[in-house]
Amino acid sequence: MSGLEGMNVTHDVTERLSWWLFAPVSKKRPNYLLGQEAMKSLCLKCHARSQVDRFYQEAEVVVQSTNEKVQASLDLVAKLRAEGLLTPEPFDEPIEFIAFDLWHYYGRTAKHGAFMGGADFVQWHGNYELLLKRIEIQEIAASLRQKAATERP
Ligand code: HEC
Repeated sequence: MSGLEGMNVTHDVTERLSWWLFAPVSKKRPNYLLGQEAMKSLCLKCHARSQVDRFYQEAEVVVQSTNEKVQASLDLVAKLRAEGLLTPEPFDEPIEFIAFDLWHYYGRTAKHGAFMGGADFVQWHGNYELLLKRIEIQEIAASLRQKAATERP
């Protein structure tokens, strides 16, 4: 669709993107506004402005809320490490794999799903799993703290 109705043809696949969706917690790209307007002008070749704006608003809400959920879980793991309840090495304890899956797979699936119009990926392959992994992390955190409390004199 890149060159639809005389639009500038490009092989730069990032030109019309607005967020760093790959990151654990996503930030806006430096060309956020320009990129978003360029992409929207393509959508507007076929869709009404109101529909395109609503699509973007909904996708942005998913990015913001996913950011918050991922950050909260990563903060909890970082806190456990600071409390001395995890080793400094990455990937030698189950909770580290759960935290990795949480952002790397489920968080990014939710965010990309939102921008691809994939509600199933936002909800069932994204948010459902984000919640499940968060509960698992909280359970492990609670038992690590309990174990430490009973072992320390
Ligand atoms: C070449 C025309 C064209 C362009 C450009 C286009 N779309 Fe579409 N879009 C369609 C058509 C046609 C459908 C309906 C497909 C169907 O129902 O099978 C559709 C469906 C959709 C739907 C689903 C609507 C619903 O109610 O289920 C969304 C959301 C959407 N487009 C968003 C976008 C966005 C965002 C862009 C720009 C990144 C875009 N489209 C660019 C033609 C286009």
